[in-house]
Amino acid sequence: MNESDANRVFAHRHLLGIEGLSPLEISLILDRSEVYVTQNRQANKKRHLLSGRTIINLFFEESTRTRTSFDAAAQRMGADVITMNVPTSSVKKGETLIDTAMTLNAMHPDVLVVRHNQSGAVKLLSEKVHSAVINAGDGAHEHPTQALLDALTIRRRKGHLDNLVVAICGDITHSRVARSNIHLLNTMGARVRLIAPRTLIPRGIEALGVEVHHDMRRGLADCDIVMMLRLQKERMQANYFPSIREYFHFFGLDYDKLSAAKPDALIMHPGPMNRGVEIDSEVADDIGRSVIREQVEMGVAVRMAVLELLAANLPPLREAR
Ligand code: NCD
Repeated sequence: MNESDANRVFAHRHLLGIEGLSPLEISLILDRSEVYVTQNRQANKKRHLLSGRTIINLFFEESTRTRTSFDAAAQRMGADVITMNVPTSSVKKGETLIDTAMTLNAMHPDVLVVRHNQSGAVKLLSEKVHSAVINAGDGAHEHPTQALLDALTIRRRKGHLDNLVVAICGDITHSRVARSNIHLLNTMGARVRLIAPRTLIPRGIEALGVEVHHDMRRGLADCDIVMMLRLQKERMQANYFPSIREYFHFFGLDYDKLSAAKPDALIMHPGPMNRGVEIDSEVADDIGRSVIREQVEMGVAVRMAVLELLAANLPPLREAR
């Protein structure tokens, strides 16, 4: 750690969400992530800070980016990594979440990285195991490392987070990415606008300190950041909009709607993207404005920083004889 970080500790055993983290704690994670951004751009990306530690990635739900980036992060920190392939595991045979947790606990992992389709499942699991737990996304609740990597991407491009106007657009109701981002951006002094059809925005969300819009051009007016969200069909129990064509017409990001935002507004998307549904393909690939690839790069660095900070709170390693 550099000197200014040396006295800054992350006093949490788990990272279950952004809600409740202080501006200092968020800044500490982002500052440490910067070190790993630099390291990841070098030929030798490996450190040994987590050597002797075991990390289990436990994904009960599909993932490409998050799972591979936790994998890369843990390996680059020198840890032993086990990624559990849930579809072929006992979970399919009816084992409960807690049984699975107890089984894994018996293997003495140091960190569990968990994704689950039920809100609250990761917290429940964290209460049953001895290891540190990182929430890699629980239902529509939180996805803290996504919000942190989004914040790192924004901070590097804009130099700060405070006073920025960030528009989060699309399927807010089913989005853990939106929830974690709302908490983080509010905590760091940015202004959040949510833009969505009435059917895809939870009633009363203004209580979180956000502005709600149902018209893209109005909502995007003079904003600094445009964050698009995927339509999470796997979480929808009903039809929330008449057709994809209509959805794209009113809420899909194209150059016409984007022209309402500041000329240097950044375009973001957590992935996976549905091109032609929530975002026009050309806009998504606009190298001058879109930072979608950079978000993926920042994801590895942020996860390395989180692993470093949580590992610092683990019981010290003793040499095995
Ligand atoms: C998000 C997720 O899984 O919550 N994706 C991700 O982690 N990169 C968003 C999504 O699935 O749309």
